[in-house]
Amino acid sequence: MKVLVVGGGGREHALCWKIALSPLVKRVYCAPGNGGIAGVAECVDVAANDVAGLVRFAKAEAIDLTVVGPEEPLCLGLVDAMRAASLRVLGPDQSAAEIEGSKAYAREVCRRNRIPSPGFWVFNDSSKAHAFLENRQEGPIVVKASGLAAGKGVTMARTRAEARTAVDEMMDQARFGAAGRTVVLEEFLEGSECSVIHLTDGKTFAPFEPARDHKRVFDRDQGPNTGGMGAVSPVPGLGKRTLRQIEDQILFPAVNGLNREGRVFRGFLYAGCMLTATGPRLLEFNCRLGDPETQPILMRLSSDLVPLLLHAADGTLEQCEAPVFDSRTAVCVVAASGGYPGEYQKGCLIHGLDQVRGGPDLQVFHSGTARRGGDLVTTGGRVLSVCALGKSVEEARSRAYTELAKIEFQGIHYRRDIGA
Ligand code: AMP
Ligand code: GLY
Repeated sequence: MKVLVVGGGGREHALCWKIALSPLVKRVYCAPGNGGIAGVAECVDVAANDVAGLVRFAKAEAIDLTVVGPEEPLCLGLVDAMRAASLRVLGPDQSAAEIEGSKAYAREVCRRNRIPSPGFWVFNDSSKAHAFLENRQEGPIVVKASGLAAGKGVTMARTRAEARTAVDEMMDQARFGAAGRTVVLEEFLEGSECSVIHLTDGKTFAPFEPARDHKRVFDRDQGPNTGGMGAVSPVPGLGKRTLRQIEDQILFPAVNGLNREGRVFRGFLYAGCMLTATGPRLLEFNCRLGDPETQPILMRLSSDLVPLLLHAADGTLEQCEAPVFDSRTAVCVVAASGGYPGEYQKGCLIHGLDQVRGGPDLQVFHSGTARRGGDLVTTGGRVLSVCALGKSVEEARSRAYTELAKIEFQGIHYRRDIGA
């Protein structure tokens, strides 16, 4: 069969790599892909948010299954358009994708289904948000643009003054465009984070292993938030009991609640959780796999991914064997461009990839790379990641860092404490 993966980051590279290993698959395409994906799939020059172009391509090539990586096409209705064209596709439709597309809506789902959450308040009017802040005790609060803001729409305000500035920027200065027209204020929670991402067809769940993403740019969680500087799976210290709680109190009620509204979620549902002293609480839902969490999770997946994707797309997940995972640990370290997550240079030559020892226990997944003639150059803030399996976190870390040290490009930087 022919599979099309939509997107062009590290997550999509890992998806293409894993899908290409399936004996069911003859050909993998990726739209638009990147310089690394070109090694495992045929890259197609169609943007991930070009809904009409993707449907046209899938029709013309008689694609048997399309797998959608990023949130933007899901929220734009790519799945609805593919289904209307009688194409098989894995991902939530536009109505179910709203659980990520609107943080205000996601919090309403939490409220209606008693999903453990921080206290939250939704505002469509900046003067009301300011009045609320005025009447509240001085102290930290989280300010979130409700709409999609590529992971940049969250401000952790330490003081009321910082919260006011964030509200102004989002609501009055439209820093995130329409995404900031509605703002969600949230109680600031403390604890450690984990991402639990399960595949579902709206009735049955295929549980995937949890992961932890490292969002801050510098070691010891210093500096600004990024798209993710690395990830580890399983999550050190996350026990079975807490995982059950996340399933029973967060993931299952969310999917059941969506069902009751006539929104059937088919795809990967991502619960970003804070593990607090009083139990796990939901920070955000994503309607897709995480990046970079996908990289270590798929490194650990022993089962063929493709039957799971097909059954979830068809709504027959109960007929599929549950996924089996390698008990070893996978650590994924992201190498970024100089200056990222701020301004950064593109087009830098990447050296040393030929020195990296490959194999089933070590993979390099590309995020922002392109081939230029015989060379590989940087095209994004997150450039590539090295992902290694090991019998312990220490072994996986040491393997990933040993290989990463062989790779060079101008301005390269990465965290030294992923998984530590
Ligand atoms: P989100 O996109 O909503 O997951 O927020 C991005 C990041 O901001 C999360 O991964 C957390 O590190 C942090 N964050 C979000 N909401 C809260 C909260 N209510 N309390 C503390 N930290 C939060
Ligand atoms: N790693 C967080 C995300 O994919 O949104």
